[in-house]
Amino acid sequence: TLRWHLIGSLDDFVEDQPVSRVVEGTDVAIFRVNGELFALADHCTHGDARLSEGWVEGNCVECPLHQARFNLLTGEAETGPAWEPVRAYKLRTDGSQVYIGL
Ligand code: FES
Repeated sequence: TLRWHLIGSLDDFVEDQPVSRVVEGTDVAIFRVNGELFALADHCTHGDARLSEGWVEGNCVECPLHQARFNLLTGEAETGPAWEPVRAYKLRTDGSQVYIGL
C-alpha cells in the first residue's frame, strides 16, 4: 500500500522547471507540465544523471547527459540510450497541498 508524503504546495512546482525532493531517502523528480504534476525517480537508468536536471519535451523528460527520453506518466524509456524504465510515482493534491505516494 502507498504511504502519502507531503512534498509541498502547488506553487512550489513551476511549469517546465523540474525540482528534486528526497522522500524517505528516495530521490524523486517532480515535473509540472500544462498544469499537471508528474513524479519520477530522480536517477537516469542509463548513467549517473538526474532527471530533475533534464528538459521537458512534450510528455517526456530528456536526460541531461545522453538525451534519453522518459515518459513522465509511465517512466518508460521512449528513446535510447536508456532502455530500462524509471519508476513513476503517484501524486495527489488536497487543496493546494501536494502528496506523493511511495
Ligand atoms: Fe541518462 Fe545516459 S545518463 S541517457
